Amino acid sequence: MQKVLESLKGKFVEELKNIKDKESLKEFEIVFFGRKAGEFTDLMKKMKDMEPEERKEFGQSANLVKKELLELFAEKEEEIKALQMDKVAEKERIDITQPFLGKKRKGHFHPNTIVQKSLEDLFISMGFVVLDGPEIESEYYNFEGLNIPADHPARDMQDTFYIKDNLNWVMRTHTSPVQVRAMQKYGSPLKMIVPGRCFRNEATDARHEHTFYQLEGMIVDKNINFSHLKGTLEIVARHLYGEETQVRLRPKFYPFVEPGVNGEVSCFLCKGMGCRVCKKTGWLEVFGAGMVHPNVLKAGGIDPNEYQGFAFGFGLYRLVMLKYMIEDVRAFASGDLKFLKQF
Ligand code: DAH
Repeated sequence: MQKVLESLKGKFVEELKNIKDKESLKEFEIVFFGRKAGEFTDLMKKMKDMEPEERKEFGQSANLVKKELLELFAEKEEEIKALQMDKVAEKERIDITQPFLGKKRKGHFHPNTIVQKSLEDLFISMGFVVLDGPEIESEYYNFEGLNIPADHPARDMQDTFYIKDNLNWVMRTHTSPVQVRAMQKYGSPLKMIVPGRCFRNEATDARHEHTFYQLEGMIVDKNINFSHLKGTLEIVARHLYGEETQVRLRPKFYPFVEPGVNGEVSCFLCKGMGCRVCKKTGWLEVFGAGMVHPNVLKAGGIDPNEYQGFAFGFGLYRLVMLKYMIEDVRAFASGDLKFLKQF
């Protein structure tokens, strides 16, 4: 019987070695220790036919062997558990050096920002600085400093958003207030542009918005004349609408320039022939501009007898609408992805 016990142990050890997963281990357990028909159980059952002396001896060694085998079995169980955990870890392993393989959803700039940035680059390449100013502006910088008299229609409550309880402050109606601020801060010579958000109390429709963007420009130096202004506007117009674009200037009154002009560019669509976009005139009104008024230079602390300057301003939205053939200005701030995704 002792021999049978030994050979069973040998078989057990041999078979256990080859077990690699939980399922086979379960089957193996049943084959050896199963209550009804396990090989070990069967052997133990044979004890009842033995002589008392033999039974005692066999019982003792059988128990020892069983203990030994159960220990080996428990070890194997642990081993398989660890193996399984390794497998899970392997499955969940993250290679942090691997590039992202999913679908890339890249953002992009708003069409207004695209045009603004490209103009900033153009002006920076010509030595201009890009400045900023407050969107809530004092009445002084928005109007007085720019030689805009108290009875100017732009000051009208219907046009300007005044700050409640303090009528000395307004939502700036244009980017021009930064002219005086910049002269006070940097003096002369000065070459600057100011892109920024402006506000007017407009009833909105396809062509009017209460919140919109302008781009202001100004040069102050000695011996600045009108041809510098025209040359600069031509560079801007050609940058936006192509090399063959023409610029023409027609007199227009703005309180902060003298003389003041309306800068028009030849229609890039019909090349001046006349179309729907230019209302059959062949020209598109784009710029307000002129030579900086002596009172504005004075407000900036600059002596108008020594220095001159030119300034211009334009609505960015209008340029962007023309460039991309956008029909409704309200699309810009709509947050409508169908619109925005086209750029
Ligand atoms: N600030 C003017 C407006 O909002 C635009 C403008 C006109 C700016 C003439 C200028 C200028 O600098 O010289 O309509």
